[in-house]
Amino acid sequence: MENALFDLINLHNFSRLYHARVPVNCLEIDSIISELKDPNTQIALCNSTISSSADVKYPPRNDYRKRVLKAITEKLEATQTEICTELYEAVCASMAATDENANPTDISHRLFLFDGANPLVIGENVHQLSEGTTGLSAWQAAFTMAEWAAQNAKMFAGKNVLELGCGVGVTGLAVLRCCRPMSYTFTDGNDKVLDRLRANVSLNSADFEPGRLFIEKLDWSDFDPYRLPTKPDIVLGSDLCFEPSLFPALVSVLNYFIRRKKAECFIATTIRNEDTQGQFLHELGQLGLTISEEWKEESTSLGERMFPFIPSVQCECVIQQIRAV
Ligand SMILES: C[S@@+](CC[C@H](N)C(=O)[O-])C[C@H]1O[C@@H](n2cnc3c(N)ncnc32)[C@H](O)[C@@H]1O
Repeated sequence: MENALFDLINLHNFSRLYHARVPVNCLEIDSIISELKDPNTQIALCNSTISSSADVKYPPRNDYRKRVLKAITEKLEATQTEICTELYEAVCASMAATDENANPTDISHRLFLFDGANPLVIGENVHQLSEGTTGLSAWQAAFTMAEWAAQNAKMFAGKNVLELGCGVGVTGLAVLRCCRPMSYTFTDGNDKVLDRLRANVSLNSADFEPGRLFIEKLDWSDFDPYRLPTKPDIVLGSDLCFEPSLFPALVSVLNYFIRRKKAECFIATTIRNEDTQGQFLHELGQLGLTISEEWKEESTSLGERMFPFIPSVQCECVIQQIRAV
């Protein structure tokens, strides 16, 4: 009985990681292979992944599906396990299909599954840099911040939250889903990014109470605080510290919210380059700001995370609170 439960949990975890589009080598396929000796479990696996209504509505890139199916069938063949018709047909279909026509503006979706609730759906461009912006795909720091926010949900409850450079909306949609803020204002300086964000908000709209969610254009170098719908208690930002020429405008906006609005300000940063981080600290110092506290990513297993994500290049990601000195 205990083993059966363990297997079910493994299958459920596999399905969550598959829908989140975690790379094939991180899907922990070995943990489900013994259970897949039962053809009914193979069918259950198909029904919860490649043939699920979520996958039909928001299919992954074919290349991803093909690699997942290939990895599973190779392991089943290695253990002389017969492959059920559903799985076999899915493998054949994925071999015949191609992503060749995919271009950088094509959208792929990540789905984060929650027991008994709609999945959280994020649509993003297939390439991280496309249409002249970084904002049309989701970045590592957004997932780190989403996870951190979900673990610190009480901090956001009943608060007005504003996000700078929100991109496709991972952090904000996670906060709205998990943390019950009074309101959430998504902002970004790029019109195409805001269009993609609006599309993602509408994919998840069943989850939101009306009047709690705002979307505003906010360019750090042309900042007009009077256009904002609320006075934020908390300001968030993820993966904003990548281009030093943007730091003066960004830091000046942070300074406004921290000093004039007494907002608590948290940013999530992927440390790709110590020099860039040093320049950001220098810019903070110019306006009398500093990093007062820092949270490192917890080393929880992928399956335990609400927003599992594996970056293509492994770098440390930290959440930093910024305060006046
Ligand atoms: C690396 S992306 C991060 C997006 C999102 N926060 C994430 O982590 O997935 C940087 C974001 O900052 C926005 N951005 C860059 N310069 C900006 C500016 N001057 N004013 C407002 N937003 C800006 C971009 O449009 C983009 O959405």
